Amino acid sequence: MTKEVIIQKRKLFIESYGCAMNFADSEVVASIMNEVGIETTQHEMEADIIFINTCSIRDNAEQKIRHRLRHLRHNKKQNKNLTIGILGCMAERLKKQLLEEEKLVDIVAGPDSYRELPQLLQEVEGGHKAMNVILSLEETYAEIQPSRLNSNGVTAFISITRGCDNMCSFCVVPFTRGRERSRNPESIIEEARDLVEKGYKEVTLLGQNVDSYLWYGGGPRKDFDKLTDDEKKESVNFAALLEKVAQVDSNLRVRFSTSHPKDIHDQVLHVMKKYDNIAKHIHLPAQSGNSRILEKMNRTYTREWYINKYNRIKELIPECSVSCDIITGFCTETEDEHQDTLSLLRECPFEFSYMYYYSERPGTLAARKFEDDVPEDIKKRRLAEVIKIQHEIANKLNSTQVGKIHEVLIEMQSKKNENEWMGRNEQNIKVIFPKENFNMGQFVKVMIDRSTTTSLIGRGISLVKKEFN
Ligand code: SAH
Ligand code: SF4
Ligand code: F3S
Repeated sequence: MTKEVIIQKRKLFIESYGCAMNFADSEVVASIMNEVGIETTQHEMEADIIFINTCSIRDNAEQKIRHRLRHLRHNKKQNKNLTIGILGCMAERLKKQLLEEEKLVDIVAGPDSYRELPQLLQEVEGGHKAMNVILSLEETYAEIQPSRLNSNGVTAFISITRGCDNMCSFCVVPFTRGRERSRNPESIIEEARDLVEKGYKEVTLLGQNVDSYLWYGGGPRKDFDKLTDDEKKESVNFAALLEKVAQVDSNLRVRFSTSHPKDIHDQVLHVMKKYDNIAKHIHLPAQSGNSRILEKMNRTYTREWYINKYNRIKELIPECSVSCDIITGFCTETEDEHQDTLSLLRECPFEFSYMYYYSERPGTLAARKFEDDVPEDIKKRRLAEVIKIQHEIANKLNSTQVGKIHEVLIEMQSKKNENEWMGRNEQNIKVIFPKENFNMGQFVKVMIDRSTTTSLIGRGISLVKKEFN
């Protein structure tokens, strides 16, 4: 089967689950497929290839995908030639097992094998099932220009690292995404420039742990102190990269995520402070407020250390918002230790948090070494308590913004009201306001009149003075 035959026949629908990195990867996949003449479609019934880019982070993430696959049987009945591919973390975690368990799946492709997708498709055309789940030490898809999918033309993701070397004991990511590696800074800057030329107004630099970004000329990551003098001279760390991206265009708003508390240093905070166009928000997952649990999680910091980091951010950049991830009911967590998480929320008020109860993931250190001994109803009750306090705090923080003016980038029409815009302020809080004469992609000064737990509501006053506004 030649590439041309694929070109004539095929339309691809990609559906993504999980974190922003998976969504960014789907855009790399779309670009690889476009190269061999396969166009993407937004309508699944029109597609003859469906790729599902999957997440394994918690059991319910995988269940959701299993459920979706059951629905796809219907599509396959309608179109006998339909090819179904499972990409991403669940593909990597389950490998061949996925082909055995889910009979309608034709392709299983892990996160580092997307360049092979055209070949895998050809194998399927030849009547075989096809799989590639080899993880790489080098692959960063650096030179591939992502095809922006479902884009609003205003905000875009740029991947800067892949994989994770941290080995938090609860987490499946190091197994599904492999070793951490940083992408060539030139290709990152090039992508940011290209987005500016295309009219984008905001980029988010993505990695599981962006602050450990380190480029020194190629190859898998080494610690800075293990580099040769020459490598050190040409090396670029995250603070330097962030500065380079901020310099691409002073009108481009720059965000980044996620920051591991152990790796975000003053140097990064100083760069944030120096550049007006770097949004003042840090996603700084704590996971727990208790030092014994943090040690068991292998997070490599204590409660006190986390609080100091939080305070340092506020000291250097008082207007910076901080958001968090919390897990309740991790192995052996006692009621008192759970109380420490609640008190951390009070001590370090977060503008918002993503909160979960612990879900054991096969193969992780916690699954192998610790008993998942907190009953599910207790995990869920603790989660409800965490959510309640976090909502109270977010409500309070948001209410202090009433009467203040925020710079908001318009991202889309509000989901609830077609006469209103939805945008975000620098602190990454949603802001809703009447459309009036404002347009998508404009930075607007908005006076805040009201607030809820998750958003600020106000009215546009004027455009922010920028070249393109
Ligand atoms: N790299 C990021 C997080 C990636 S996963 C970091 O280090 O913080 C996103 C979030 O999912 C984690 O922060 C954690 O709160 C949650 N998570 C990961 N594994 C989990 C598990 N086994 N059970 C419940 N939540 C989990
Ligand atoms: Fe998972 Fe920890 Fe890596 Fe985040 S830093 S991806 S939680 S192992
Ligand atoms: Fe999920 Fe993989 Fe992201 S497990 S959270 S899609 S890295």
